[in-house]
Amino acid sequence: MPLVSMNEFLPQAKANKFAVGQFNMNNLEFAQAITEAAKELNSPFIFGVSEGALKYMGIEYTVAIAEAAAKQSGLPIALHLDHGSTFEVAMKCIRAGFSSVMFDGSHHSFEDNIRLTKEVVKAAHAMGVSVEGELGTIGGVEDDISVDAEHASLAKPEEAIRFYEETGVDCLAIAVGTAHGMYAGEPNIHFDIIEKVASAIPVPIVLHGGSGVPDEMLRNSIAAGVGKINVNTENQVALTQTIRDVLNADAKVYDPRKYLVPARKAMVEVVKSKIKIFGSENQA
Ligand code: 13P
Repeated sequence: MPLVSMNEFLPQAKANKFAVGQFNMNNLEFAQAITEAAKELNSPFIFGVSEGALKYMGIEYTVAIAEAAAKQSGLPIALHLDHGSTFEVAMKCIRAGFSSVMFDGSHHSFEDNIRLTKEVVKAAHAMGVSVEGELGTIGGVEDDISVDAEHASLAKPEEAIRFYEETGVDCLAIAVGTAHGMYAGEPNIHFDIIEKVASAIPVPIVLHGGSGVPDEMLRNSIAAGVGKINVNTENQVALTQTIRDVLNADAKVYDPRKYLVPARKAMVEVVKSKIKIFGSENQA
């Protein structure tokens, strides 16, 4: 199967109250682990690729790996630019074969965010590519983007509804209290904001910063109207911790497969557990 736009599965997610996972791809092992987990559970999913990951892997390798995963698994998989910062990077990804892009204009003024997101939507939709927009500022650290708690600001429901109406995005990330990276305590998710916006627009809400959010809060977010959940850090932690354990246990290891095979397995378990919580099992 070729890579698909998120519209291949997000409308069902919204109608049947489940969420599709965006699992960030940082290298080949991530791609293999995510695909294996999804295949076992027959779930659609989204490969999220940040600009930093794109720089690390190279755009040709990124697209080739995602296309191989879609072909080999037969699953509906979207290859999605995560937090695209400019119109140009979004177009570059689409030209290279991405089936979906996020334009994150949340650091611009509200009116500029609408104007810039509209431009991306117009071009992307003409090519059958789905678009995610962002409103409000999500805290935490991702790649080179760092937002401290003080500058993270929640989305205003009336603005989010207007943002959707004017831009026509296919899903909308709104800041509701989650953050990128792991949490010191528990996140304070504003379910009322999710509910207000989700009940007024026909597309799903996206929850960023899915790592470390307690299972029950994830379920409640989905019940409130979240249809896409992003997870990256938990896979990074599982991979790195496993590699650290293997190397600490045996200083003579030099073959990368000796630690990458168990590290990949650890990520398979993380992704499987998320897919079960998200309710996207057997929705492929
Ligand atoms: P985490 O790294 O906290 O899971 O967040 C991922 C994310 O939201 C990517 O956009």
